[in-house]
Amino acid sequence: MSVARPPLIVAIDGPAGAGKSTVARALAQRFGLLNLESGAMYRAFALKAIEAGIATNDPAALDLLAHSTHVRLEPGLDGNRVLLDGLDVTAQLRTPEITAAASEVSVHPPIRRWLVGLQQRLGAQGNVVMEGRDIGTVVFPHAPVKIFLDASPDKRGERRYEQNRNTAVVTQLPVKVLEEIRERDRRDRTRADSPLRPAPDAAIIDSTDLTLDEVIERAAALVEGYLGGSDL
Ligand code: DC
Repeated sequence: MSVARPPLIVAIDGPAGAGKSTVARALAQRFGLLNLESGAMYRAFALKAIEAGIATNDPAALDLLAHSTHVRLEPGLDGNRVLLDGLDVTAQLRTPEITAAASEVSVHPPIRRWLVGLQQRLGAQGNVVMEGRDIGTVVFPHAPVKIFLDASPDKRGERRYEQNRNTAVVTQLPVKVLEEIRERDRRDRTRADSPLRPAPDAAIIDSTDLTLDEVIERAAALVEGYLGGSDL
């Protein structure tokens, strides 16, 4: 007897600069999945808080602000377009200021509850790959494919520096990039609500000494394993 398989959700978690976005994009293209970047939602809200002059360590004011904020992700082949209260803010979300503020606002439970709810609604129909910090642990704890992508801090700093340099979004010294990555890791891993950690059933891929293609092939093999192993 064939049993309906649960909707395909690929959860990719890991620290900054581990390659989550690139791997998520490759899987989305290969398997025809919607690619949803949950971090972009925290970034959009951080932008709103900064524009409203609200401190990232003021949970009550942030919670109030969240009630009048609309964040929407529009997945596309090259990444997500992010709409904040109907305006496209995609190009504004990668500055060091927003990067740090996104990590800061994300420690507050009411902000997490709100965005996790939106993420769950976005992904509920399946056929998605969603990347973030708590996708396999909190947002989709029953996702059939969970990947925790890691790499040494030095390697992640190096990659992030190259990435920034190529896009010329930010000009920062390599040492500064590494410092920010370490600080963000510390905050993302030690927050009380949904800290960054692998789900017990996640496949851990350490990309420190792997090429991008090797990482993508390993991740794709996990998806193929699921697709091949379950009834259609
Ligand atoms: O993935 P990113 O670098 O765009 O994420 C920015 C910040 O948002 C990250 O430092 C922590 C927060 N975040 C989170 O707490 N949970 C997620 N699922 C995604 C991002």
